[in-house]
Amino acid sequence: MARSQAQTSVITIERFIMEQERLHPEATGELSNLLYDLCLAAKIISRQVRRAGLTDILGEIGTTNVQGEVQQKLDVFAHDTVRHSVEHTGRVCIVASEEEEQPIPVQVRDDRRSGKYVLLYDPLDGSSNIGVNVSIGTIFSIHRRNATKRGPGSLADCLQKGRAQIAAGYILYGSSTMLVYTTGQGVHGFTLDPTIGEFLLSHPDIRSPAVGQYYSVNESHWNKWAPGIQRVVGAFKNGDHGRVEAKNARYIGSLVADIHRNLMSGGVFLYPADTNAPQGKLRLLYEAAPLAFVVEQAGGAAIDGLGQDILDVAPTELHQRTPLIIGSKQDVAFASAVLAESR
Ligand code: AHG
Ligand code: MN
Ligand code: MN
Repeated sequence: MARSQAQTSVITIERFIMEQERLHPEATGELSNLLYDLCLAAKIISRQVRRAGLTDILGEIGTTNVQGEVQQKLDVFAHDTVRHSVEHTGRVCIVASEEEEQPIPVQVRDDRRSGKYVLLYDPLDGSSNIGVNVSIGTIFSIHRRNATKRGPGSLADCLQKGRAQIAAGYILYGSSTMLVYTTGQGVHGFTLDPTIGEFLLSHPDIRSPAVGQYYSVNESHWNKWAPGIQRVVGAFKNGDHGRVEAKNARYIGSLVADIHRNLMSGGVFLYPADTNAPQGKLRLLYEAAPLAFVVEQAGGAAIDGLGQDILDVAPTELHQRTPLIIGSKQDVAFASAVLAESR
């Protein structure tokens, strides 16, 4: 639904979520409220990210987060902030985070039913970039619980294929703080106006160019890659007999930042398996799958490089890793074809 510029300039994320909910008469509002909960967490983490450098300079000036806890390492802070923003609401039955080995079943409290949703998240993505003021992010994935069960959720509720996701998205703490999400009705971007504390609709209906101008990969792993991957990256670097044009290299080392740039400008990101990491480095459930949902909804594609779409990979472990090739549709299709020829 096209909107005039005037209409989009003052649409808060709360209003947008409500309008989206109205498109589904059967909606109960629980998913909308869960998305609001994540917005609150995003604002709190954004405030802390913006102050990260100062904490050292200013030392422990008694800064506390909303739970009254003394300031912690940013990724632990982000983990706690998301968890505390959702676990008391009765909307989720279990949460799983990169920061916790086991999923955290959400106990039933003051006779609230455990919720019907499952939240999987990477509280702070790109941790190696925190101390050098480079963009970092948070990634989230929402599933519906196994309908036959009640009470706190279980690991089985977390181990669902990406194709079953109800919603997914990320927050990018970059030059501005953006929240980008999908519920399967397209991809929409919101920019935080810190002066009013609201996420405003800034990028409605994001569509990713079919052919990207960028390729993003950590080429220091070149000698550890399989020949097929070397062929694919070589083609993105130098062009390949008219099948694909040479691209510009851009690699930030924060997955959310690399994916967002490629989503907006067109590009392809690769984190292949290598001899040191035979399953790849990135995690399926709270990195690859949510980002694959967003990218596919924006017209792109995401594969594991082993013949499967990321969204069709059946998870067996909570923190399982997967190789990942994700971004502009034609670039991913080229990679898939070359890898199929190389198998
Ligand atoms: P996280 O900080 O959540 O562990 O994620 C880091 C990931 C991802 O953000 C990025 O794409 C990748 O690590 C970079 O890895 P390399 O430094 O090996 O390139
Ligand atoms: Mn990560
Ligand atoms: Mn992380």
